[in-house]
Amino acid sequence: MLFKKKRPWDTIPSSEITPESLYVDRRQFMGASMAFAAGAVVRPDSVGEAARRLGLHQDPEVGPVTYGENLREDLNTWEQVTTYNNFYEFGTRKQDPALYSGDFQPEPWTVEVTGAVKNAGTYSVEDLAPADRIEDRIYRLRCVEAWSMVIPWRGVALRDVISRLEPTADAKYVAFETAVRPSEMPGVRRPILDWPYREGLRIDEAANELTFLATGLYGRDDLPNQNGAPLRLVVPWKYGFKSIKSIVRISFVEEQPYTTWKASAPNEYGFYANVNPNVDHPRWSQARERLLPFGRRETDMFNGYTEMVEHMYRGMDLNRWY
Ligand code: MTE
Repeated sequence: MLFKKKRPWDTIPSSEITPESLYVDRRQFMGASMAFAAGAVVRPDSVGEAARRLGLHQDPEVGPVTYGENLREDLNTWEQVTTYNNFYEFGTRKQDPALYSGDFQPEPWTVEVTGAVKNAGTYSVEDLAPADRIEDRIYRLRCVEAWSMVIPWRGVALRDVISRLEPTADAKYVAFETAVRPSEMPGVRRPILDWPYREGLRIDEAANELTFLATGLYGRDDLPNQNGAPLRLVVPWKYGFKSIKSIVRISFVEEQPYTTWKASAPNEYGFYANVNPNVDHPRWSQARERLLPFGRRETDMFNGYTEMVEHMYRGMDLNRWY
């Protein structure tokens, strides 16, 4: 095991998932295998195997991951994950990001880190997500629109990035901003939202072990443009709009930051936006969700990640919208 401390999803050692020779070769590069099934039975598999079953290119460097039983059954295909998207910078219809993000250039890329942080500066994607910190994680993504998918991400734990950046005591929140490139993003030529798309987390949420900075998908080392290339946030216990794509700025701030959807409709999109089946959206119920491409399921509190996140919301009334 690569971890000294046993964590909720570390039920089987990586060495049992992958032949020993491969495990030894990859351990420096890959980090550890994990499952994020929120209480489900864990059994071994790999993104590579899933990719092969789906007829995708087999990347020899694909490392092991474990699946929760329910997530394995539900895992969405590459095609579903990359053709049904919300990324308003490329248009508002679900197919628009795949259709109209072809001109977007995610390389070269820099991220500006500012505010209450010791190591402020301009970083490359590799600086923030170095190869020896990369892991694969499978998460359920629950959109506020009441659909969900199960997606195998590749990337780094945001807490790891934050600890290397060294925020100061004034950093109470972390704010994120997406690129605005009218020549490459047809959506930002229109006032659909107040561009740039902005999101934020409280510092403890940002440093939660689940919060992830994705740089790849489905065992591949890069993200398709429509999924937020070259790096995007994944916050699996919150509605999907918190998982901001194509990040160009990370700011450590003292006050709760401006967030795009909350500013546009505060009664529909809160700052916290934790998945909650008991609090309906003003225009629809959040009790159930469509599991794409078809299927229905009950929505779980915190999208099934209660054990790992509920301590952050003690004292908050979970029957109201934040
Ligand atoms: N980030 C930016 N910059 N612009 C967006 O429109 N949409 C959000 C989120 N991140 C969005 C964004 C919403 S509503 C969801 S549900 C997820 O991205 C969808 O991620 P996916 O398309 O990779 O499934």
